[in-house]
Amino acid sequence: MRQMIPFGYCVGVDHIDYDFKHLRKETDFTLNNQQAARQAPAKQVMDHEMMSGEDFSNKYLRILEKHPRLRDLIEARFNMFMYRIHNFDYKFKITTSWIVKLYDGDVIQPHNHNNCYYSGILYYGKDYPKNSAELMLRNPIEDTMRNVFPKVEDNFNVMKNDFPVVPSTGALYFWPSQILHYSAPHEGEPRYSCPFNLVPTAAVFAGDSSQNYKWITNQNL
Ligand SMILES: [Fe+2]
Repeated sequence: MRQMIPFGYCVGVDHIDYDFKHLRKETDFTLNNQQAARQAPAKQVMDHEMMSGEDFSNKYLRILEKHPRLRDLIEARFNMFMYRIHNFDYKFKITTSWIVKLYDGDVIQPHNHNNCYYSGILYYGKDYPKNSAELMLRNPIEDTMRNVFPKVEDNFNVMKNDFPVVPSTGALYFWPSQILHYSAPHEGEPRYSCPFNLVPTAAVFAGDSSQNYKWITNQNL
């Protein structure tokens, strides 16, 4: 009997050789709730209250716009990945990008990203000790199963195992943005990462699902 796997999710795993020294100078880290409570009154929380949504986004959530060569490199790698899957150049661009610094004991609560098609992460720190928290992509197939099997150690099952996004300098990962991700508590020296979101910008003509940004840009929205 053959075993077939007819459906799946595509995760991009890549690595870039790049001098991250300028990105490493950025200090406007995005805080999770745990960090914001610990650092209260956190500047970012106050900024969130005081600044407009646009100004706050420009300061904390558009980090790669200050590093356009790196942004372009990530977009090029991602568009190659998409081309291999879809055989079409969707001209994806990064919308939001932010930086995260996890301290010893910090965790990433399960969450996903909206208003985007794919999400990704770049590990830009100098080094990642072996206890650095892995970002785990939660297996979305398991939630669709009607039965629950006990976990069996060392038995990899694509229908239920989560996928580790392992930190190492220059590692770059992409995943569909609806996928929940989380981490176990981080251990050791701070762990740096730069997550980001992507949207397609090419015109897509597909009946009543067609989309062309030229239709709606250059208007005073
Ligand atoms: Fe995330």
